[in-house]
Formats: sequence, structure tokens, C-alpha cells
Amino acid sequence: MGGAYILGIESSCDETAAAVVYAGEKMVSNVVFSQIAAHQRYGGVVPELASREHLKAIVPVVRKALADAGQTYRSIDALAVTQGPGLAGALLVGIGYAKALAFALDKPLIAVNHLEGHIHAVLLEERQKEERQKNNRPINFPVLALVVSGGHTHLYLAEEKDQHWSYQNIGHTRDDAAGEAFDKVAKLLGLGYPGGPIIDKLSMHGDPAAVKFAASQLKHRDRHDKSDHATGPRFDFSYSGIKTSVLRYVEIHGMKGSIEARRKALAEIEKPALEDFLRHCDRQTLNLIASFQRALVSDLVAKTLAAAQACNVATLFVTGGVAANNELRQRFEQDAAMEGIPVYFPSRPLSTDNAAMIAAAAYPKWLTRDFAAMDFSAEAGMALR
Ligand code: KG4
Ligand code: ZN
Repeated sequence: MGGAYILGIESSCDETAAAVVYAGEKMVSNVVFSQIAAHQRYGGVVPELASREHLKAIVPVVRKALADAGQTYRSIDALAVTQGPGLAGALLVGIGYAKALAFALDKPLIAVNHLEGHIHAVLLEERQKEERQKNNRPINFPVLALVVSGGHTHLYLAEEKDQHWSYQNIGHTRDDAAGEAFDKVAKLLGLGYPGGPIIDKLSMHGDPAAVKFAASQLKHRDRHDKSDHATGPRFDFSYSGIKTSVLRYVEIHGMKGSIEARRKALAEIEKPALEDFLRHCDRQTLNLIASFQRALVSDLVAKTLAAAQACNVATLFVTGGVAANNELRQRFEQDAAMEGIPVYFPSRPLSTDNAAMIAAAAYPKWLTRDFAAMDFSAEAGMALR
């Protein structure tokens, strides 16, 4: 089986997305409809609302992905859809629609793990670069992938053999995901939702050494760890402590009043720009934001590199929404270079949720005819193996 045009569909959280990717190496279209505006007033994603928004957006989003690609329902070779992990009701919208299309068109349907998608976003773009520059820079295995987003902070060792990909989880967060910590801290400082992008920008205006946060100490194995590799070393993360430390700082320093004033002032601006945020943040707040980001990034980078060394990996991937963070990218590039480990990130648009990564991850499954049976369903807590 040669190259194929695969239509990918993603609806696991608050982005309705569709894309057409050729042979896992050429993104011919990529449409992402973000629901942020619908969820913003609630300060986070509301699952019921997410499902309804997916239902409204899915048909136009898929149509646009096909039109942008110069393809039709009939001309594509296969469909791919996110099976999990994610919000069950949101996943079901994408799965139901993909199944109906595959049935009506009599085309194969491929079920993809969302986390595998994030990993393949890196591979898709590397293949595109190779294609453009004709400089074959093969990726050496084993690969260690840090998938870091609003729902996940996971470390996977990835291997590939005859188009069959396998993954071993060697670390995860014991409580909050890194993106969740960004979102919760932004909310508690009156900065709105989502928190990552604005904390990223504001951090450049504060002193990252102003507030000291203790690094999370994980001395014991995770009691809930049921993995097959329960005896090997684990490289777990924990980010609920740092969020509590920020809250304590706010209370001790009597910042609640100014936070409330900021929340109200920003809520009155339709689309606040960076200048609006800066106008409503005093020096102490900017220092707190920069120090929080510095502490979280330092912990993520240090733990990931310790795992990379212990497992003797040849290559590092950093992917997922938080991989868009500027300080995280700089620190990984700098520190991994010192260890002599090449590090790869997706471009920023492919760091956050999208369907091109789903269509790219589906291509090896197309080659091995690993198609989904028509009775598969959403798996909210789906593991990656
Ligand atoms: O991958 P993604 O779009 O969705 C999930 O699968 O969760 O990631 C969204 C998360 C949010 O928590 C958001 O605050 C965070 O990624 N994020 C960032 C940045 N851009 C998005 N965090 C830090 N810095 C950023 N620039
Ligand atoms: Zn994601």
C-alpha cells in the first residue's frame, strides 16, 4: 500500500478540528475551531457545553478541511478519529460523525489515541522539513516523548518496528497536569482562561528569581501505578503543590483585592491585549507570575532530562499545548544540548490540539491495515501502549 490521503477528525476537548494529511508527511489542510469563547466565562472547559459546540461545528469544519485540501468525501482514502483520552461526550461527537462518514463512503476508519497524535505532530513536521530541504536527518531511537498539555504530563519511551509503534509510560503527573497548573494559577490571579499563553507573555515582564518555590519531592512510588513496569524507575511529576504555594503567597501578601479589581477590569474588555494585562498587573504580580513559570519549567526540564539520561535515549520530543511555551522551549534546547541529546518540538500551531496529528498518527495504521471495527466507542481514560 502506498501513500494515502487521510482525513483526521479531533474532538477530545475544546477544539473541533479536521485536517487532510498525505502519507503521514504532508499536511494539505488543517482546520481548528476553538471553543475558547464559549467556555471563557466559566473559567475552564464545561464538558456538556463542549459536546454541544462540537455538534454545531463538526460538519462545517470537516467540509472546510476537505475544500482547503482540494479533496472531496469520495477522493480521500481513509478517515481517522480520536478515540481517547478526553471528555467522553466530546469524543463521541467526532467518533459518531466519523463512523457515519466511513459507513456511507465505504472507506476504512482508523481509531487514534490523542497522545499518540501529539507525538506524531513532531514526526509529521520533521518529514515535511526533510521533504522541503531534502536533508535527511533521521530520527534515532529510542525516543523519549514528553506530552505536556492541559490534561497530561506524561513521559513515553517510543519505539518503531515495521510501521508498528509501541510506547512505554515511564512517568506521569500524580495530580495536576502542567497546563492545568498554568490555567489554575492564571484563574487565581484574575487573568482568565486559558492561562498558559498569557502567563507565557507576562513572564517576560517579571523577575523569575523574585519568589522561591520548593521543588516537588516525590520520594515514594505512586500507589496507583498499575503499569506493567511497576518495578522500573519512575519519573513522576506533581504540580498541585506549586499552585497552592501561589495561593498562599497571594493570601500572605494581601493581594486578593487587587486580583478582584483586575478580574473585573479585564472582563469588561472584549479581547484584552497584552498591554491591557500589563496595565492591570503590578510589579509584585508580574514577579510572582515569572517565578511560577520559572519553577514549573525548571522542574519539567530537569525531570525529563534525568529520565532521558537514565534510559539512554537518542532523541527527545516535547509536545502538547504547554510545548508552545517560550521559556520551556529555550530551556529544553539549552539543557538538552548540554547533554548532547537532540530535542524536537512541533511548530506552535501543531503543539496545541489539532487533527493533522491524528491523520499523521493514523498513517502507519493504514499501512498495516489496522482499521477500527464499527462497534468501537470513546475511551475517556485511554492508555497509550
Ligand atoms: O494540547 P492542548 O491544546 O489540549 C490538551 O490536550 O489539554 O493543551 C492546552 C493546554 C492549556 O492548559 C494551556 O494553558 C496550555 O496548554 N498552553 C500553554 C501555552 N499555550 C497553551 N502553556 C504554557 N505556555 C503556552 N504558551
Ligand atoms: Zn492535547
